[in-house]
Amino acid sequence: MVPRTFYTLIALCFAVLVSAKDEQKYVRLDKDATVEGTKCEKLAVRQEWCKYIEAVKCLQSTPATNLTGVPSAMTRYDEFVYTHSLSANGIHGVGQFLPWHRHFGRLYEESLRETCKYEGPLPYWDWDRDTSGDKPISASPIFDPKNGFGGDGVPGTYTVPTDNDNSTYPLIPAAFKGCVGDGPFAAVTMHVGPNLRFTDHCLTRGFNEDVRPALSSAHLAGILSQGDYDSFWNALDGLPFKPEPRLHDAGHGYIGGEMTSFYTSNNDPVFYLHHTGLDRIWWQWQQADLANRLYAMGGKVNNTPPYGQVTLDYTMEFPRLSTSASVRSAMDIRAEPYCYTYDNGALARGFNVFMMALPFLVGAYYL
Ligand SMILES: *[C@@H]1O[C@H](CO)[C@@H](O)[C@H](O)[C@H]1NC(C)=O
Ligand SMILES: *[C@@H]1O[C@H](CO)[C@@H](O)[C@H](O)[C@H]1NC(C)=O
Repeated sequence: MVPRTFYTLIALCFAVLVSAKDEQKYVRLDKDATVEGTKCEKLAVRQEWCKYIEAVKCLQSTPATNLTGVPSAMTRYDEFVYTHSLSANGIHGVGQFLPWHRHFGRLYEESLRETCKYEGPLPYWDWDRDTSGDKPISASPIFDPKNGFGGDGVPGTYTVPTDNDNSTYPLIPAAFKGCVGDGPFAAVTMHVGPNLRFTDHCLTRGFNEDVRPALSSAHLAGILSQGDYDSFWNALDGLPFKPEPRLHDAGHGYIGGEMTSFYTSNNDPVFYLHHTGLDRIWWQWQQADLANRLYAMGGKVNNTPPYGQVTLDYTMEFPRLSTSASVRSAMDIRAEPYCYTYDNGALARGFNVFMMALPFLVGAYYL
């Protein structure tokens, strides 16, 4: 017989851990680590997504800071969509794809903190968690209507615009099932997009399980096994530049709706979880051989001729949002202004399953 006090202690410990769950955790940077920029004192640990949805909704109800030449109803959240839209042709299908989105994620996180007093970590999507079993991806807690980001689009609730908006990559009407009908974003009005238009519209989705193989652990292992940066980012990025889906576009393609808009995919808040997920994979790849990969960059700089070559000195622009940044400055997440790292999804998951089972273990004892 295990004494009852043992279980009481475990139950208490459980309560403390649960209440501490949403706070930002930090780790010290190894004092021997060599960092080219200003070395961070401590690193904020980015964790798998949890409750940060309130902060996102806050951004979506805060007026934009620059209303020049845009609809007057625009919000701070919409401004990030507009910057992505203005930048889209120059940041996709190119080597600077990863550093641009790393810095963009950092600016978004900064805005959540400064504008909406968010104190928790920036979450990521661990696709492996949702594809390793035999449940459909739609069963993921990410799409839970109560605690997650809401589910699929509802057929017949959205009409895809067909006017010519001069987009290089037009909308794919078949990917739009309809407006998301449940969850925290069902009633939110977006003002930028889809694509290059400004229209007031709902959050749209259209789940597509066909792309599941490109979100699997086998696919991830293939990406992480690449030896040089150009092969690495190419292994991660497929449509519309390659004939088949790969990790990046498969995440967009799975969710569908606005997530398939080349320009305004970040109207869907899950965009940021998908891209921190990609940033995590990039960091895992860098960390596997820091000496050779921390500053490994390459690949084309334009997705149409002349292709050119990305170097660490390439300047990334964030129109209407922030000052420019060099690729070099975005290579090391242990250096200012980044100062974060990632937990190990699989390990953290084992721990969470144990914690989730605890109340039942304790409950069973008291019954
Ligand atoms: C598309 O381009 C045409 C010609 O330049 C312009 O008149 C029209 O306003 C543009 N449409 C949008 C939605 O930008
Ligand atoms: C505000 O928007 C206008 C129009 O696009 C632009 O010229 C200006 O630079 C923007 N201001 C800032 C601070 O980004």
